[in-house]
Amino acid sequence: MSSTPKNFTNPRAKHNFTGRTVSIAGVGAYVPEKILTNAELEKLVDTSDEWITSRTGIKERHIAAKEEFTSDLATKAAERAMKSAGVTADQIDLIIVATITPDMVFPSTACIVQQKIGANRAAAFDLEAACSGFIYGLEIGQQFIMSRTYDTVLVIGAEKLSSIIDWKDRNTCVLFGDGAGAVILQNRENSHGLLTAVMGADGSKAKLLYMPGGGSRCPATPESVDARLHYLRMEGKETFKHAVQAMVSAATEAMRRCDVDITKIKCVIPHQANRRILDAVGERLGATPEQVFCNLDRVGNTSAASVAIALDEAVNSGKIQRGDLVLLVVFGAGLTWGAAVIEW
Ligand code: UT7
Repeated sequence: MSSTPKNFTNPRAKHNFTGRTVSIAGVGAYVPEKILTNAELEKLVDTSDEWITSRTGIKERHIAAKEEFTSDLATKAAERAMKSAGVTADQIDLIIVATITPDMVFPSTACIVQQKIGANRAAAFDLEAACSGFIYGLEIGQQFIMSRTYDTVLVIGAEKLSSIIDWKDRNTCVLFGDGAGAVILQNRENSHGLLTAVMGADGSKAKLLYMPGGGSRCPATPESVDARLHYLRMEGKETFKHAVQAMVSAATEAMRRCDVDITKIKCVIPHQANRRILDAVGERLGATPEQVFCNLDRVGNTSAASVAIALDEAVNSGKIQRGDLVLLVVFGAGLTWGAAVIEW
């Protein structure tokens, strides 16, 4: 079968000694039923729909039920991705869950998901790169397939951020939501899947966005709970500045590696942190507003789940068709960032 000439370079091709190509064979997402609107937040903290909408673009977010955990959201997204890929649980070799809100510190949420979906053969681990976790996970999953270690990898981004939000802090509680997105990566002929992924980090700015309590540095004590150390903290303005710079530079590098400019990209899917970040990144990349995917008005910032949920929505709404080039770009705590060009 002759293949159509592509108008981009696959940067992996020249180093691809195993002759493998990795496809994103299926995608799925899940957000909890309960919706929390800006109007409801007005009753919790000193804020307004007008402030939240104009400063962030967020109108509502989904909040998990008390007995619904990150693994439950992850499982629902995973099952949808498996169905969309036509893959059964026994085919899965590896499960990667990107999250900053695991069900518990250990064992990993990936192990809990393994049991829930019945993927008994699969290895499983969690990955912590905050809001950048899904792209980190895609790249790691891809590497396992390229190296012929595994054939089928399930990559999930899942968060129950409502469990670490300080509902008394108006600076942060209006921003985040719960949800999960997942993809199945598989070795398939005549497809390119993830063409390239750029990943970066800067630990010197760790305290711009972090949760002080709960780890080995500050285990839970009555004092740490009273001091509200088990909640997420963020310096919004400074984080915003770094987000725009890092996302633009990672996206530019990813496109350079594939010899494409922004006009060849069908859809840019940025981490859904803030409408003003999406607009600034889109503008600096030279993208039209129509190219930049946005669903944060309905889901808020779902951290590691963010681009995965958006990818699922872009595919299911027909915005992305098979063969289209898609640019994913993320930024989060760490600091971490990343960008990926995929051929859908
Ligand atoms: O997912 C990881 C990546 N996340 C991000 O990149 C998020 C980046 N940051 C942001 O999106 C924005 O910085 C925020 C949305 C968090 C804040 O927007 P901002 O325009 O940077 O506002 P600010 O923090 O400078 O606050 C401006 C004012 C302050 O009042 P004063 O000091 O000027 O009187 C805040 O106290 O807005 C006030 N404010 C609010 N007012 C009403 C902050 N939060 C609220 C609120 N409602 N919810």
